[in-house]
Amino acid sequence: MQNNSYLSSAPALLGGLSLRNRLAVAPMSRMQGQDDGLPSPDTAPYYARYARHGVGLIITEALYTDDIASRAYFNQPGLATDRHIEGWRPVTAAVHAEGSKIFAQLQHAGRLAEPGLNRLVLGATGRAATGTTWQTGAANPTPTAATEEQIEEIIAGFAAAARRALAAGFDGIELHGARGYLIHEFLNDGNDRGDAWGGSIENRSRLAGRLLESVREAAPGLPIAFNYSMYAMDEYAYRPRAELAEMEAIFRTLRQAGADILHVSTRRTLRPEPWGETLAQTAARSAPGPLIAGGGLSSLAECERALAWPGIAMVALARPFLANPDWIARSQAGQPIREYTPGMERQPLLS
Ligand SMILES: Cc1cc2nc3c(=O)[nH]c(=O)nc-3n(C[C@H](O)[C@H](O)[C@H](O)COP(=O)(O)O)c2cc1C
Repeated sequence: MQNNSYLSSAPALLGGLSLRNRLAVAPMSRMQGQDDGLPSPDTAPYYARYARHGVGLIITEALYTDDIASRAYFNQPGLATDRHIEGWRPVTAAVHAEGSKIFAQLQHAGRLAEPGLNRLVLGATGRAATGTTWQTGAANPTPTAATEEQIEEIIAGFAAAARRALAAGFDGIELHGARGYLIHEFLNDGNDRGDAWGGSIENRSRLAGRLLESVREAAPGLPIAFNYSMYAMDEYAYRPRAELAEMEAIFRTLRQAGADILHVSTRRTLRPEPWGETLAQTAARSAPGPLIAGGGLSSLAECERALAWPGIAMVALARPFLANPDWIARSQAGQPIREYTPGMERQPLLS
């Protein structure tokens, strides 16, 4: 049995929260909500199982925020109506009873929505993403560029969802600003809108800033994390044209706009980017403050390497926890770890 200090009872301070250790379950869409967006009855025991197995923080799967255009997947659970509050209360209570904390991840699908799912498909621009959707493999739909009025509706949707997250007992909120979904599409340098919401970094960051501000107002006291990835689901090799300068500017802007926690999710946390440091190191150096790093970590030793870097408060793992709810105990005892295989996310939550 290894004695890993970051797994000991020493609390990790993150956005003012005291956590039992420095390991988080990264957000993972499981697409098994009920047709009306309520979490299924298995959701509370599903997340509580991670807590029982000792993770400090759980970030939920992406939850949709409004019934207009925000849903990404069929059977995605949401926080889009007040009934959803009742659905999530038992989930947060079950996680708390096992001694862990849980954040709600809020998402707007943007142009990466499954076709036919929403009344409208809204994007930063009117251009479709290349390739096919993740859930059904359909061609990505062609969006219409959100009008300023629709952008205000989107912001109002996030604020209402944040208020519901607070009422449902969540310990924090994470904005899904990654992987090409709406917030990320606005941030990326492909957002060439000619109005105040596109073009310069200042304009491209406006939606993220307004969301941080309105979520803060709607859920006072809850820490807010911002999940950022460089890559998008439709473009895994995406890099901004200005590379390092762009990354530094985005991380600084997000902090200044009120992100308590930056969550940098990549595909390889430990791999340096072409500019010589990892993306998490860039975030820690350019925009100091609580930071979660994750993606591609597959052993306790790798977690420990990332946690030894200055400024990394926590590491987050997705696929290892999906395939092994008891990943921590297995890793500590040197027992075999089950490999994630694509499609595992569609298996029943408690399998
Ligand atoms: C099945 C599955 C579902 C995911 N769903 C989400 C999600 O809802 N929100 C999100 O921000 N990231 C999501 N991700 C990305 C993960 O949070 C994580 O960044 C990525 O899998 C890399 O981490 P890993 O190497 O530990 O798996 C998902 C990943 C997988 C494999």
